[in-house]
Amino acid sequence: MRTKSKNIFAFTFFAIVFEILAATTSLAQTLRQAADQIGLLTGAAVAPFHFSEPDYANTFAREYNMAEPESVMKWSATEPARGEFNFQAADAVVEFAQAHGMKVRGHNLLWHSYNPAWVAAGHFSPDELRDIMRQHITRVAAHYARQVFAWDVVNEAFADDGSVRHSIWYDQPGIGLAGKGTAYIEQAFRWARAADPAALLFYNDYDAEGMNAKSDAIYAMVKDFKARGVPIDGVGLQAHLGLNAKGVDSLAANMARLAELGVQLHITEFDVGIPIDQQGKPLDLGDLEKQAAIYRQVATACVQQPACTAFQTWGFTDKYSWIPGFTRGKRGFALPFDRDYQPVPAERALLEVFTEAAKK
Ligand code: XIL
Repeated sequence: MRTKSKNIFAFTFFAIVFEILAATTSLAQTLRQAADQIGLLTGAAVAPFHFSEPDYANTFAREYNMAEPESVMKWSATEPARGEFNFQAADAVVEFAQAHGMKVRGHNLLWHSYNPAWVAAGHFSPDELRDIMRQHITRVAAHYARQVFAWDVVNEAFADDGSVRHSIWYDQPGIGLAGKGTAYIEQAFRWARAADPAALLFYNDYDAEGMNAKSDAIYAMVKDFKARGVPIDGVGLQAHLGLNAKGVDSLAANMARLAELGVQLHITEFDVGIPIDQQGKPLDLGDLEKQAAIYRQVATACVQQPACTAFQTWGFTDKYSWIPGFTRGKRGFALPFDRDYQPVPAERALLEVFTEAAKK
């Protein structure tokens, strides 16, 4: 008798514990709840002009625990004229994020693109450019100290073949380090660290998710920086993908080798564009499942890699995705929520991957 009642007690006890565990780990209804359960940052690139749209603001605050300004922290927005800094739009993203308990990822301090004409066509000498670059990195990083937890310090500095991309900062004319490989990138990281010692400093690029010449070059740079004490904390993998899922097969391997160097990894700009018609609808509804499978693969690679601490998409609603513009109307429907803020299969895939990971 005694043993039997003990057994019943034990059974009831474990049944209750199981119920509680199930309730706390599987009831996540939003990406944010699910990501919170596994300590993952999940974010989206946003534009502050849309915050006045209730569906935009509500969906964003409900589904994400991290925010990144899509373009308003870029050079042309923050320093439109030499020495004249404008942080209004970017501050609005930071304020929104703080009001909703989200972290802010900064994007970006240095890029070959999106520079205002005064920089791009200014015909400066290397010495002047060096000064301009130092001022910009210093002012922007210092302004957001304690507000931005991680910066894309340098964006897209490598060509597909792994060589250092020709740019105004490198060799056209460059800041005095032309022909010296990653030396100008190193300089950017050192100035960023000096301006904000607490922020995590990332190098960010596209088409470097899997093993290839570009990701080899990034790996070599991080290895060299780490060996010489150059301040770098992470690598951002943009992951703008299509249905061919380029590089996804070797994403886990690439992440593993970078993680071994002691850096964090963020999936920074994920989207999967699919062929669309003139109304912006998918040409083939079956593509939505293929897209969801790619979302699942990339999110799984991230949650299975301890060094992968953030998973972010480039926007969250197809209403404002950059993909249709970038592909001249050929592709779109790339994000977890459609134009009416309804979740698509890709969103379900993310929710499942995050929820499953919480059970492990
Ligand atoms: C894009 C924005 O989404 C567009 O709205 C803008 O016109 C151009 O920049 N890689 C990056 C991002 O690092 O900054 C780019 O964002 C997309 C590609």
